[in-house]
Amino acid sequence: PLTTTGELITRAAAAHTAVAAFNVITLEHVEAVIKGAESVDAPVVVQVSENAVKFHDGDLLPLGRAALTAAERATVPVALHLDHIQSDDLLRRAPDAGFSSVMYDASRLPYAENLAATRSAVEWAHAQGLWIEAELGRVGGKDAAQVGGKNGVPPLDAHAPGARTDPDEARAFVADSGVDALAVAIGSSHAMTTRTAALDHTLLKRLTAALDVPLVLHGSSGVPDDELRTAVAGGIAKVNIGTALNIALTGAIREHLAAHPEVVDPRKYLTVGRAAMAETAGRLIGVLRAECDA
Ligand code: G3H
Ligand code: ZN
Repeated sequence: PLTTTGELITRAAAAHTAVAAFNVITLEHVEAVIKGAESVDAPVVVQVSENAVKFHDGDLLPLGRAALTAAERATVPVALHLDHIQSDDLLRRAPDAGFSSVMYDASRLPYAENLAATRSAVEWAHAQGLWIEAELGRVGGKDAAQVGGKNGVPPLDAHAPGARTDPDEARAFVADSGVDALAVAIGSSHAMTTRTAALDHTLLKRLTAALDVPLVLHGSSGVPDDELRTAVAGGIAKVNIGTALNIALTGAIREHLAAHPEVVDPRKYLTVGRAAMAETAGRLIGVLRAECDA
């Protein structure tokens, strides 16, 4: 059934575990994420990024409605979340589309402007009953994932000190903006195709001690299983995963087409691609749950 992101994160944080939040681009992503969650009987967040909406010609509803219907019919609790939203217009479409939460991303702006933009987004979101996440410090690599790869901003090096979230600044940011959760930059980077990110667990400890809101890890596809487990034990309550699904999808399709060059029916290769995504989603949810199952 459909639930809210706030409910899932609150429950995860209380159980010292994390909820997986998967980025979906196509209907097959939606089907795979829910199937993967059902296969391990775990709740899940289905999230649609602003870039994914751009891919669908700026229209949230076709994919959003499919996700809403799939969530309502799922045998596990599923919440819908809008991810990396920079457009106020898109932010305002969330409630009508059935999304219970948004990640409002003004992290590209200098601190004062990030705070001011986030604070007004929080005011609006809370008046609608939405749960809202923001980012402080920059999790690099987002620009590489943009459709059309434009905008000329080089992705930040995930290991550069400037990419980290400062605990004192984070405490002030959370208090002054009123956000419900904070995405922190602790060494992960978006759109990594190798799982080689090393997280700064000492910084995570300091952030957990400094903040009383749940923390969110972005760019989790590049984070190895053990690092993910340690991050969850260290206080990460929502783990965002996108690229891992796309690696599974594209890899399975590439292999299928190479073995069957005569195939033209997309159902043939999308079936294997979707199954690979479902398997990946189920496996990663299992990694995040290991802590509380143990
Ligand atoms: O907000 C989305 C996530 O941070 C996904 O990052 O594609 O590197 O897993 P990823
Ligand atoms: Zn992200």
